[in-house]
Amino acid sequence: MCGIVGYVGEKRAAPLLLDGLRRLEYRGYDSAGVATLDGDHVQIVRRVGFVQNLAAAIPADMPGHTGIGHTRWATHGGVTEQNAHPHADSTNRIALAHNGIIENHALLRARLEDEGIVFRSETDTEVLAHLVSKFYAGDPVDAVRKALLLVQGTYGIAVIFAAHPGVIVAARNGSPLVVGKGDGETFLASDPHALAAYTRQVVYLEDRDIARIDQQGWTLSRLDGSDVSRVVEVLGEEWADDGRGDYSHHMLKEIREQPESLARCLRGRVVPESGGARLGGLDMDPRDIASIQRVGVLGCGTSFHAGLVGAAAMESLARIPAFAEIASEFRYRNPVIGRDDMFFAVSQSGETADTLGAVREVQVKGGRIFGVVNVVGSSIARACGKGVYVHSGPEIAVASTKAFTSQVAALLVAALSFARTRTLGPHEGKSFGDELLAVPSAVGEWLQSEPQSVMDAVELVTKGRFVFFLGRGVSHAVALEGALKLKEIAYLPCMAYPAAEMKHGPIALIDRNTPVVVIVPDDVMRDKTLSTIAEVKARGARVIVVHSAGDMHAARVADISIPVPRASTLLSPLLTVLPLQLLAYRSGLALGRDIDRPRNLAKSVTVE
Ligand code: AGP
Repeated sequence: MCGIVGYVGEKRAAPLLLDGLRRLEYRGYDSAGVATLDGDHVQIVRRVGFVQNLAAAIPADMPGHTGIGHTRWATHGGVTEQNAHPHADSTNRIALAHNGIIENHALLRARLEDEGIVFRSETDTEVLAHLVSKFYAGDPVDAVRKALLLVQGTYGIAVIFAAHPGVIVAARNGSPLVVGKGDGETFLASDPHALAAYTRQVVYLEDRDIARIDQQGWTLSRLDGSDVSRVVEVLGEEWADDGRGDYSHHMLKEIREQPESLARCLRGRVVPESGGARLGGLDMDPRDIASIQRVGVLGCGTSFHAGLVGAAAMESLARIPAFAEIASEFRYRNPVIGRDDMFFAVSQSGETADTLGAVREVQVKGGRIFGVVNVVGSSIARACGKGVYVHSGPEIAVASTKAFTSQVAALLVAALSFARTRTLGPHEGKSFGDELLAVPSAVGEWLQSEPQSVMDAVELVTKGRFVFFLGRGVSHAVALEGALKLKEIAYLPCMAYPAAEMKHGPIALIDRNTPVVVIVPDDVMRDKTLSTIAEVKARGARVIVVHSAGDMHAARVADISIPVPRASTLLSPLLTVLPLQLLAYRSGLALGRDIDRPRNLAKSVTVE
């Protein structure tokens, strides 16, 4: 959704702002704009549509060595140039970009209108530009502080003042901002992707921080006026690589990166010598682990699906009662949270508003919650305080792929660590850990020799009227993930079901135009799932079967057989999901979809 960038330094700001905005494009947006300082006023250029429209409209010699930029995903007011950010005050001497929602904007707007201010947009943001202007009396930080004290809602803002060339004032409350220190230049962004190519030395603002940013760095204070300092962090190397390389799409690149992203996630965490696992970020001693009564795993979309696998592992491996729940449902059902319960919040972006809301709900009720997050320093990671980074590296395509497998792997490591403390002996632990460590290379080998049958499956599903995805246990989570991918990327109607539930109703939908994708690894549920295959085939369905390599019976009953390397049940999702990711990608491609930026979707869903 919305993104912010800022630059202060010796170079011309506009090209750097544009580059930063391009790096934020993956988040989803509908208009974009930049503002730079030009003598005694601010110069603003905004356009509806992609950053390339904005780039075409920006004069090659746009002046200014200080500037801010924004990509907007419309909330208050339609998708128009007037509503795009940055917004100026009435004197055109202040420009402001904003992520978040100002909840009391109507009241503030009415007051400002009474004072004679004429608004030029329908946005909630414009009130901030006028308020900052109203309170400006020579000190830009003071003006921003006074304006923000009147505001209810969430914000990440960047403000420039014609009277203060070489200064950006930034502030955050609920919408992330990160400041990056370069050599004689300083960068600002709502997302580390935008600045990782320029610097890896960053500081994350906390809620109610205000930063005065100049060429030399930053000075931080709090909304209440007190001073504060924050630790400078170093972005991991993987964050610098957000290009497509030789790949035609980020999604394909990210699918193919899974051997490395999985290996990164597991590195140093599985400990073969003890048969256990080490997750320093959880900071739990064996007594803490022994006292856990229940585990809840919360997330949305793909992260929820990873959570389903994680909860299954907690229960079957560590023998701790466990459940996974969609974060947006959990947060409003007044859940019972016990002292010895432990929760995980799973999120690639670390910014999903529904998941962040669930984190707060657990905390309000005195519960413990740990992040399983990809983006370092993101809101969920910070709100949880402790947790596990999954180290997938930048995931740019809207469809989550490598983050899913890393989330599953991280949760399996946590389950192994808990299980080793509570239930597993060293030999069983070691054998689980060894198998987990072997997964990245099995994933790599399969991806390298992707079977032709994936393309046969593409042919079948793209011609189908409706596609079913079936599986049982953790394979049901994989079915849900496969169906989500096919909806998002190929826009094909489909549905995932626990295989045994078909006979309780959905089987009525089956005919020869409803391809059925069945995930049937060679585990204890295999024979039962094979019976479901027989039932849907008897009603005319053509069946694509994702099965364990060497399972000849599963291959024989399939109309299209897709073998994947064998793995024990809990690890099987790391392999069975691969053909489903490619099925979605290749179906989207065949249907001419916008693979990396599917319609109506944003990468990071920061609104409820
Ligand atoms: C996945 O392909 C989706 N784009 C979406 O379901 C996503 O997983 C969901 O919005 C949660 O995002 P998060 O992991 O960043 O919290």
